[in-house]
Amino acid sequence: MTLGGDIVDRLEIVGGNRLTGSVRVNGAKNAALPILAACTLAHGECVIDDVPNLQDIEVMIGILRSLGMVVAVDNRTVTINATGVTGVEIPDEMMRKMRSSIFLMGPLLSRFGEVKISKPGGCSIGVRPIDLHVKGLKALGAEIVESHGHIHCKATRLTGAEVYLDLPSVGATENIMMAAVLAKGTTTISNAAREPEITDLANFLKAMGARIFGAGEDAIVIEGVDRLSAAMYSPIPDRIVVGSLLIGAAITRGDVVVKGVIPSHLTAVLNKLRETGVEIETGHDIIRARMERRPNSIDRLHTAYYPGFPTDLQAPFMSLLSVCNGTSIISETVFEERFKHVSELQRMGAFIKVDLRTAFVRGVAELSGATVEATDLRAGAALVLAGLAACGRTVVEQVYHIDRGYESIESVLGDLGAQIVRL
Ligand code: UD1
Repeated sequence: MTLGGDIVDRLEIVGGNRLTGSVRVNGAKNAALPILAACTLAHGECVIDDVPNLQDIEVMIGILRSLGMVVAVDNRTVTINATGVTGVEIPDEMMRKMRSSIFLMGPLLSRFGEVKISKPGGCSIGVRPIDLHVKGLKALGAEIVESHGHIHCKATRLTGAEVYLDLPSVGATENIMMAAVLAKGTTTISNAAREPEITDLANFLKAMGARIFGAGEDAIVIEGVDRLSAAMYSPIPDRIVVGSLLIGAAITRGDVVVKGVIPSHLTAVLNKLRETGVEIETGHDIIRARMERRPNSIDRLHTAYYPGFPTDLQAPFMSLLSVCNGTSIISETVFEERFKHVSELQRMGAFIKVDLRTAFVRGVAELSGATVEATDLRAGAALVLAGLAACGRTVVEQVYHIDRGYESIESVLGDLGAQIVRL
C-alpha cells in the first residue's frame, strides 16, 4: 500500500469539462476501518480484500502493528494476525490522527480485558464526544476511568446487557457490537445505527463465528461466544465515493456510469439527484447519472441517520445546489459544525446564507475558480466538485484531508475527463 498524499499537496482544477465514462469503486473506508479493528478478536489470520488505499487505513494498520499484531499488506489485501498482541495501549499521536482509532476500544477490551486510549482526533465537524461508546461498554461491565484526556478500561469478562443508545451513533454501535460478541450472555443494542457499514461489520463478525441478529435494524441482539476464529472478507463498496462521483456527473452536466456499487445503499441520494433533474438509471451493481441542463433547486435536503440522506454527502451536494436554478434549503442535523465549506464556496461566487444548522443556497449561473482550503474530508470533496464546474482555475489546498477518504481523486476524475493535477 503506497500513499501519494503529502501535507503540502494542492489540487489544481481547470473547470468546464464534462465528466463522462465509467469508473469502478473500491471497498468503503467506513466499512474497512471497523473490520480491520475487529480482526483483533480472531484466533488466527484474517484476510481482508478490497481494502481502499487511504491514509486512515494506513493509520489503522500502524496502530495494529504498534500493538504487536502481524499485519501484511499486498496491494488491497490486508492479512492480520492478532495472536501475538503485546500491548493494549494506543499511542496518543495515533489516537489524534484518526477518530476511528476508537474502534479498537471494544475489541481489545473484550479479547484482552484491558485498553488504554486517549480522546480521539479526526475531522473538525462538531464536538464528537464518545460518551455513548463509554456508556455502552460500562453497561457490559467494563470499569472505565477517565482522567486528563486518557481513558483506561478494564474487565475480566464482559457480560451481556441491555444497551440503549440516546443517538443511533454508527461508531458506538460498532464498538459495542465488537465488545459484546465475546461477552458472557446476550446483549441488546436498542436505537442502534442502521447504516450499511453496521450490517457489513456484523457479517464479518458472523463469518468469524459471532452470533448477531438484527444488524441493519434498530435493535441488534448479540449472543456472546467464547472464541472467534479467523475469516476472509471484502467490505462493501464505498457509497459516499459513489455519491460524490454521481454529483460530479451532475455538476459538470456529464454522463457517468459507476460500477461495483450497491444501488440500494444510495436510495436517498439518488432521489435527491433526480429532484434536481439528473437522469438516474440503476442496474444490479451499476448506477448511471446523466445531466444535460442546469439543475433545479430543491425545497429541502435534510441530513439524517441511514436510510436518510447521509451527512457525508451534504457538502458535495451543496456544491451542486450552488449552481442550480432557484433557492434550496439544506439542514444539517447530524453534526454541529458541518458548514465549513460554505465560506470557501462563497469565495468561488456561491450565494449561501447560514442560520445555525440551516443553509439557504441561491443558485448562481456559474461559479468562478479561486484558491480555497479543504477544511475537512467531505468539505474538500465539495470544493473539488465545485472546481470541476467553475469557470477558470481552482486550487484546493490542504488536500491531505481529501486523501483520507478518496483514493487518488485526481486520477479517478482525470480518467473521466476532468482537468485536474496534484501540485
Ligand atoms: C461515522 C462515519 C462518518 C459519518 C458519521 C455519521 C466512520 C468511520 N465514520 O462517524 O463518516 O459522518 O458516522 O454518518 O464510520 N455522538 C455522541 N456521542 C457519542 C458518539 C456520537 O453524541 O458517543 C454524536 C456525534 O457527535 C454526532 C452523532 O452522534 O452528532 C453521530 O455520530 P456517529 O454516528 O457516532 O459518527 P461516527 O461513528 O463518528
